[in-house]
Amino acid sequence: MNQSMVLTGDRPTGQLHLGHYVGSLTQRLTLQNQYPLFVLIADTQVLNNDVIKGSHVKENILSLMRSYLACGLDPQKVIFILQSRVPALFELTQYLSNLVSLSLVMRNPTIKTENKLYNDNEQLNMGFLNYPIAQTADVILFGANLVPVGEDQVPILQFANDVIDKFHYQFNTSMFKTIEPLLSHYPRLIGIDGVNKMAKSLNNAIFLFDDEKSLKEKINKMYTDPGHIRVSDPGQVQGNVVFSFLDVFMRDKQHLEALKEHYKKGGLGDVTLKKLLFEEINIILKPIKEKEFAYSDKELLDILQSGTSYANIIAQDNMEKIRDVIFR
Ligand code: TRP
Repeated sequence: MNQSMVLTGDRPTGQLHLGHYVGSLTQRLTLQNQYPLFVLIADTQVLNNDVIKGSHVKENILSLMRSYLACGLDPQKVIFILQSRVPALFELTQYLSNLVSLSLVMRNPTIKTENKLYNDNEQLNMGFLNYPIAQTADVILFGANLVPVGEDQVPILQFANDVIDKFHYQFNTSMFKTIEPLLSHYPRLIGIDGVNKMAKSLNNAIFLFDDEKSLKEKINKMYTDPGHIRVSDPGQVQGNVVFSFLDVFMRDKQHLEALKEHYKKGGLGDVTLKKLLFEEINIILKPIKEKEFAYSDKELLDILQSGTSYANIIAQDNMEKIRDVIFR
């Protein structure tokens, strides 16, 4: 197991949006050509925050698979894993949990933030507290070392490395590789409100499968500069939501700089800018939407199932090695 391997995961919480596209999907499109790439759908983890969410998990898993393939993840290259269908993950989580103190979990910055966000410090269930351990198992069971995550998840990977150290020390082995987070170029895309990060729950997202009409409507809703009333007025680029998006999506950066100068001087209208932004985003979304129904639900589930079967073979093999180290 010397070669680098990539494993990343998503909770099946709903439709993917442009924030996912710039934050993680484009990165995976590159990674799938460079390394063995495992993409794990964390359907077990999604229950930690709210057991009721289980009611939408099936449809959200399909929606994730549909988006992955429409964006160009290649089922010949990527191994898709359904977390709940890998029994060894539960077993490894159980062994690892003996190495972790409650205070180590409670000190974790990600856990602190998410606890406030999801649990409001009440209703703190054991599943949630255990999720950093379960996520450590997700990565090390398959022998992965490179883990693309959002910035907010970096402390969870540092925690995973702590657990690996404890395991190595406790069982006098060095069987696991150190985990390295892979941060993407644009870790966070702002929402169309220009205030918060793009998120389905904040109602500020452009979804990958939004049709052109709703894409236009969403762009039209974006704030520009409230002082830019007539086209001839000088406008502000700073804090202008349309320019924030153009910064990310406009491919011709020189042209963008020229537009900014023009806007600041006056004479460049918001409508023109928004049309431009529509075109830039549409160039990305159009081919994705064309592939939205390239696979039937059955085909998507088959791909997920065959990836999971393959992952189970690796998991069982590694799990046996791990048991051998624990029970000497
Ligand atoms: N916790 C991750 C998130 O919410 C999802 C996840 C589960 C994951 N298992 C993983 C990410 C393993 C990377 C590796 O985004």
